[in-house]
Formats: sequence, C-alpha cells, structure tokens
Amino acid sequence: MDPDRNDTVLILEDFHPFLDIDRQPELISMLRSIYKRSVVGSGSNTLILLQPEMKIPSELEKEIQVLELPLPEEEEIRTLVKSVIDTFNIGPRDYDDNKRLIDAALGLTTGEVLSAFSCAAVKRKRLTVEEVPLIVAEKKQVISKRGNLEYYEPEQMMTDIGGLDNLKDWLDRRNKAFSQEAADFGLDAPRGIMLLGLPGTGKSLAAKAVANTWQMPLLRLDMGRIFGGIVGQSESNMRAALNIAETIAPCVLWIDEIEKGMSGMQSSGATDGGTTSRVLGTFLTWMQEKKKPVFVVATANNISLLPPELLRKGRVDEIFFVDLPTKKERCEIINIHLNKRNRSLPENDVETIAEKSLGYTGAEIEEAIKDAMYRAFSEDRDITVGDILDSIGATTPLSRTMSEVISQTREWAKGRAVPASPETPEPLPEAKCAYVLKQERGNPFD
Ligand SMILES: Nc1ncnc2c1ncn2[C@@H]1O[C@H](COP(=O)(O)OP(=O)(O)O)[C@@H](O)[C@H]1O
Ligand SMILES: [Mg+2]
Repeated sequence: MDPDRNDTVLILEDFHPFLDIDRQPELISMLRSIYKRSVVGSGSNTLILLQPEMKIPSELEKEIQVLELPLPEEEEIRTLVKSVIDTFNIGPRDYDDNKRLIDAALGLTTGEVLSAFSCAAVKRKRLTVEEVPLIVAEKKQVISKRGNLEYYEPEQMMTDIGGLDNLKDWLDRRNKAFSQEAADFGLDAPRGIMLLGLPGTGKSLAAKAVANTWQMPLLRLDMGRIFGGIVGQSESNMRAALNIAETIAPCVLWIDEIEKGMSGMQSSGATDGGTTSRVLGTFLTWMQEKKKPVFVVATANNISLLPPELLRKGRVDEIFFVDLPTKKERCEIINIHLNKRNRSLPENDVETIAEKSLGYTGAEIEEAIKDAMYRAFSEDRDITVGDILDSIGATTPLSRTMSEVISQTREWAKGRAVPASPETPEPLPEAKCAYVLKQERGNPFD
C-alpha cells in the first residue's frame, strides 16, 4: 500500500495473529498512522479487519468500530445450499428443500455450512432429509471444536427421573410454550430454570430430559472452559456461545455446575481483574434481553459459591431446590434403574432397599445397583435383593458426611427456592464427621 495515498480501503483478512504489539510494534504504529492520516488530513483511508475473534491491540481499540456478524440464518443457509447443489450438479429429484435440512445447519458459519453440505453432497450425491444426521454430526463436531459448547441430542425421558414431581409438573405445563399458538395466546416463552441441590440428585438428568421431551437440541455450556482460555477472552467466549445458542434456537442451553465458573467472584474476585463479574454481567443481560427461544437450565451443587445476582428474582423463571429423594422417590429410582437393566423385583423388596438407602442420592442408588449386577454376573447368577442391600451397606453416601451442609441448605432454600419434590424431606441420621467439614470449609452460607 502506498502510504502517501489518501483514498484507499485496506482490507486485512485473518490478520489477527499479527496484531500483537510486543511482536509487531512497527506494524501497529503503521496501521495507526493510516487511520490518523484520514482523520487529520483530507483523505479517507479506511482499514477493515476481517477476523474470527475479537483480537484488537489496545493501541487501536478506541479507533476501531467492531461489527459482529451474525451466523447465517435460514434464508442464507438455503442460498448456500443452492450453491452446493449447482457445484455438485445435484438434480431436482435429489434435493429436498426441507426445513429440517436447513435447520440442521443453524449455528454454523458460512464456511462451515458450505463444507458440511458439500461433504454430504459428495458422499450421498443428494441432499434430502436423509442427510440431516450427516449435517448434525458435522455440526456436533464443529461446535465442540469451537469450544465452550457441546451439542447433544439426549435420549433421556421424563420417565427416567424418579421423583421431582413439582419440577416435572412445571416443565410439563410449559411443554408447548415455545409454539406459535402459545405466542398467539399471549404467552412469553419460558426463560429458564435454576436447579440447586446435592451432586447426584438428577439435575443434569433433568436438563437432558427437558431437551428430549421438548424435542430441542441440548447445548451444554462449559463454564470452566469459558474462563479457562486466554486471559481477556472469557467475555468474547461467553458472547460467542450465547450467539450460537440463539442461532440454533429453539434449544435448551444447559449450564452445568454454573458455580464452578462463578467462584472467582468470591475467592479471587480481586485477582481475576473483574473477569468473572463481567462474564456474569454479559450472561445476565442476555438472559434479560434475549428474544430467541433459548431455554436455560442452570444447575449448581454448591449454593454457597453462587453470586447473589444469579438468584435474584426475574433472572430465571423459577429456582428449584432438589433435595435427597424420599422413600417413595427412592422406590421409583430403584425401579427405573432395575427396568433399565431389564430386571424387576417384588414391591416389598424394592421397599426394603428404599428403607436401607435413606440419605442416598439417585446416582448412589444407581451405583449400588450396577455394583450388585457386577457381583451377580461374576458369580454366574442373577441379581438378588441381597446383592443390592450388600452394595448399599458397603458404601457411605455423601449425605452422611454432609448432613450439616444439607440441613443448612434446606434452611437456606426455604422461601428462596421451590422444592423440586412435593414430598416432605426425611430427617437424616446424625452426622459422624460434620465438624471436619465445618472446620475445613467454614459455613457455606455465611
Ligand atoms: N431422581 C433420579 N431418578 C433417576 N435416576 C437418577 C436420579 N438422580 C440421579 N440419577 C442417576 O444418577 C445419574 C447422575 O445424576 P446427575 O443427573 O448427573 O446428578 P446431578 O446433576 O444432580 O449431580 C443420572 O444420570 C441417573 O442415572
Ligand atoms: Mg450434574
């Protein structure tokens, strides 16, 4: 480029790796001088940077206007597919202009859409609904590679969850809430829920079951990875993830163990330079303003690490507290996991197991059944009640060492969260070593 000319448009494509002031100080000062001249002088030089990420040296930050290009939507994808059809000479009989085929590519960039459809066209010599799984498989890979999000098509159903009837009813009432009829009726699309409770009580399972029941793809947002990347990128990671979710909508955005990402607020709030609170801010603003049907399911195991902003009314539609299963719920859980393995036991045996598993979570009951299955198999016989009772006797549930935390959580949840189950929680046996927890971690609700 002639530095003396004053009427140039300079486009730098994928130039971001060079925008590092430590390595390229001359380059950056040159870019600045191009810009300066057009402001001070009479010319109008324009600099356009085309790049996939928000990497701008701070020296240029004030002078650059950032435009985030949205991912292609339905119409644009349809145009891209038409170009693939032309390129690969796919005849009208081998192309099915189906919404499902087009929707399958939502969330991909222009290049990725072209590449996914081209691959399918080369492999199958046609583009029809039959090719939807191919496009979805490609999308799964691409989205996971881009980081922070994982794409699931869960198979779990509401009937795979034992207990949690309040939560199930709540979700059931909103089954059709994303439809056009619901909008015409004057309903707002549900925004999301927060599930709080001990590990292993079925929170993640519920997120998967909602997506499957509502026939929506499930996007799992990994908070650890949002914060784990390069310093300064957490916010743009968050924005990119939310952007993908909006493009794929209607979908369920599952933020598993949200407190893991947010713990920086308390423990290292001073040292992380406010990153955590900025990311949280980005998320909360998005929650408040989002127009697309993205249903958020946030789960948290440790309430004490949650920033209060997240729990304020109006952020999510409802906050549910998931307690340990009651005897009746444990019976359901035992039956579900036996049925999954094509087994069943008489009702009174199931009740005996449920009685002996007071304080066990769904995950712990499932583990005991699995363990009993292994034992029976290794001894060349079928599983018995005795095997399951032995397995239960041989494990110590988490609640035993955490009974203090559980009673505090129950107290905390009163008035702040809706119980996920209509059942009255059962009192737990005395803790053996709760004092250790107290000493080590302090009161989590202080
Ligand atoms: N209420 C439940 N009903 C049936 N299975 C359960 C239940 N709770 C937990 N499980 C079993 O334990 C597994 C792990 O539970 P998960 O949903 O990951 O717990 P959380 O997310 O609350 O830590 C589930 O996939 C399921 O197999
Ligand atoms: Mg979980």
